[in-house]
Amino acid sequence: MYHKSKILTGLAVFIIFMTYPFWNNIGSAAYVRPELEKVKKAKECVESVEFMRAEHMSMLNEWRDEVVRDASHEYHSTVNNSVYQKSLTKTCMDCHENKDKFCDKCHDSVAVDPYCWDCHVDPKGVQK
Ligand code: HEC
Ligand code: HEC
Ligand code: HEC
Repeated sequence: MYHKSKILTGLAVFIIFMTYPFWNNIGSAAYVRPELEKVKKAKECVESVEFMRAEHMSMLNEWRDEVVRDASHEYHSTVNNSVYQKSLTKTCMDCHENKDKFCDKCHDSVAVDPYCWDCHVDPKGVQK
């Protein structure tokens, strides 16, 4: 019985020691998004930033389908009153001028490499 407190102390020290890397990481272990080039010509994206982060891939797919299948070219934003042309090159890349410092920088950090640029032109970019 008289070893009990020593055992408990030992156990506590052991637990703290084993979990130290975890405690020490709080606040720094979160996913770090790379620094992306800011848009100069507008304050807002076609939708909210949160929405765009999560949904831009499906939005582009929908835009393509609607343009190609339905000849529907106008996108009405739900966050502002603007109407945008459903176009990767003429719309997205008009504001996000530098593909390398915006799209690619983020994609590289998560190892995705959209094949869109096989056909679509990166208007101002340096071709790789
Ligand atoms: C009218 C200008 C404009 C257009 C057009 C535009 N964006 Fe944006 N976008 C912005 C602005 C402003 C932000 C907010 C961040 C900033 O200031 O750079 C943003 C943010 C984003 C983000 C989030 C970035 C982050 O900080 O995590 C993504 C992703 C994005 N846009 C993708 C797109 C795509 C894809 C298209 C085309 C479907 C598009 N944008 C069209 C202006 C635009
Ligand atoms: C804030 C980070 C971020 C930015 C900025 C960003 N993307 Fe993405 N993008 C992603 C992520 C993450 C994925 C992968 C999503 C998945 O696999 O579910 C992705 C996937 C895509 C896909 C689908 C690729 C595939 O193979 O499925 C396309 C198309 C795309 N992005 C286009 C763009 C374009 C164009 C821009 C610049 C205007 C852009 N993205 C900017 C994070 C970003
Ligand atoms: C094999 C060639 C090819 C590839 C790869 C390709 N596209 Fe396209 N895309 C086209 C063609 C052709 C059109 C029709 C152009 C038109 O009608 O103006 C088009 C139209 C579009 C449109 C609507 C019109 C516009 O100006 O943007 C969007 C949006 C689009 N594609 C997005 C994408 C995205 C996102 C990817 C990558 C995930 C992609 N495309 C990959 C050939 C391609």
